[in-house]
Amino acid sequence: MNSRPRKIVCIGAGYVGGPTMAVIAARCPDVQVTVLDLNAERIAAWNSGSLPVFEPGLPEIIRQVRGRNLHFIPQAQGLAALAEADVVFISVQTPTKTSGAGAGKASDLQFVEACAHLIAQQARGHTIVVEKSTMPVRAAERIQQILSANQTGGTFAVLSNPEFLAEGTAIRDLEHPDRVLIGGEDPAAVAALKSIYAAWVAPEKILTTGLWSAELSKLAANAFLAQRISSINSLSALCEQTGADVAEVAAVVGTDSRIGPKFLQASVGFGGSCFQKDLLSLIYLCEHHGLPEVAAYWQGVVDINEWQKHRFAAVVQQAAANRRVAVLGLAFKKDTNDFRESAALAVCRRLLQSGLEVVAYDPRVDGTRFAAELGNPSHFSVASTAAQALAGAGAVAVLTEWDEFRSIAWASAKLSPGAMVCDGRNVVDRTAVRQAGYGLRVIGSAAP
Ligand SMILES: NC(=O)c1ccc[n+]([C@@H]2O[C@H](COP(=O)([O-])OP(=O)(O)OC[C@H]3O[C@@H](n4cnc5c(N)ncnc54)[C@H](O)[C@@H]3O)[C@@H](O)[C@H]2O)c1
Repeated sequence: MNSRPRKIVCIGAGYVGGPTMAVIAARCPDVQVTVLDLNAERIAAWNSGSLPVFEPGLPEIIRQVRGRNLHFIPQAQGLAALAEADVVFISVQTPTKTSGAGAGKASDLQFVEACAHLIAQQARGHTIVVEKSTMPVRAAERIQQILSANQTGGTFAVLSNPEFLAEGTAIRDLEHPDRVLIGGEDPAAVAALKSIYAAWVAPEKILTTGLWSAELSKLAANAFLAQRISSINSLSALCEQTGADVAEVAAVVGTDSRIGPKFLQASVGFGGSCFQKDLLSLIYLCEHHGLPEVAAYWQGVVDINEWQKHRFAAVVQQAAANRRVAVLGLAFKKDTNDFRESAALAVCRRLLQSGLEVVAYDPRVDGTRFAAELGNPSHFSVASTAAQALAGAGAVAVLTEWDEFRSIAWASAKLSPGAMVCDGRNVVDRTAVRQAGYGLRVIGSAAP
């Protein structure tokens, strides 16, 4: 097939599937895009005024294309679309395995495998199956096996097309990607997928590689990004001991054009559903292939991140001195409602375990879901404004870099006398905190 595919199905209406398909539908009005999910509630939310994913710019695009050439359908009702599809994207979760071989490290491919079974059974004619989910190297082999063992007459080509969007900037990343990566061995299938992205991405930014390189490149890119955060975070601790300031060090280091300024902000640590999971997947692959030294090298990036979260939680715990803690920010980063693997989960767990009372505020995260993730502890509650969370607190932990935390009116915040503000993101107005008479601890500086 050399012409542009006309019918696309995406299995998985999550943080990747929803925004990615919305942008494809917007940029390719001649292509019908159908997004399926087993979670009917999530599909209903995509069809409502209250989208399940908070992402700047997303509601505007959804308004433009939903019902025109983008359709969100519960999976059971979308089998006809699947049968007719020219291209099927698999965009389901690939979390770290919690049991069985490789538990705690290897990626769990059960959701992907379920998709492959479904595609094998439903697809008619020739279908291009695209791994959009992040996979371990050689996962496509497994998909190919499932497709050929279970097919009912259809033929398939499998491609790897890992997604590089970052939550919080997903629409910008999708509309203006640094690159689109297509890995595959079937030239016609590669050309067909390329023709979709070519509608808005310059040809030199559409990279093509072998399948295994594409799968590994995604893990490698996330490992390098996480490594930069752990590198600067490891130095933040040394700065606190020596009187150096990590922001100054990062600014100097980042001006080296070989290094660059991005991803050098010291913080309470990286979170999100991808960095740790993908590092662990890489570590597992290295161990599996008899490379323990390489595995240990990348394990260090994970370990520093865990250490940084716990180091900061200990600072907050000490600052609280048995008083109530206000946690500002539950999302793993600003401009998303996603709190998977967020620093807030780790810090709240530790504070609650030590018996402290925590009142949290986040402008976008659903506090009920966050509390449920913590196991609905009795000492945890959610405020509807930052001011409400701050009132009466003995310590404040700023855990997400939401813009509104930069301009908190500390002079009128009713913290308890002698309260300590612990800034895990280096966003608070330090002068305003000091002038209001509160103590301040920031990451990477001994005397803020
Ligand atoms: N979130 C990110 O920033 C990001 C960025 C790049 C790549 N990725 C990768 O993309 C993949 C998806 O991530 P996500 O954050 O969108 O996950 P998600 O959990 O938000 O969404 C996955 C969706 O798939 C659905 N699903 C699971 N199994 C299904 C099945 N058999 N049939 C139909 N639907 C099914 C789930 O109900 C869920 O709605 C992962 O592999 C992830 O590593 C994520």
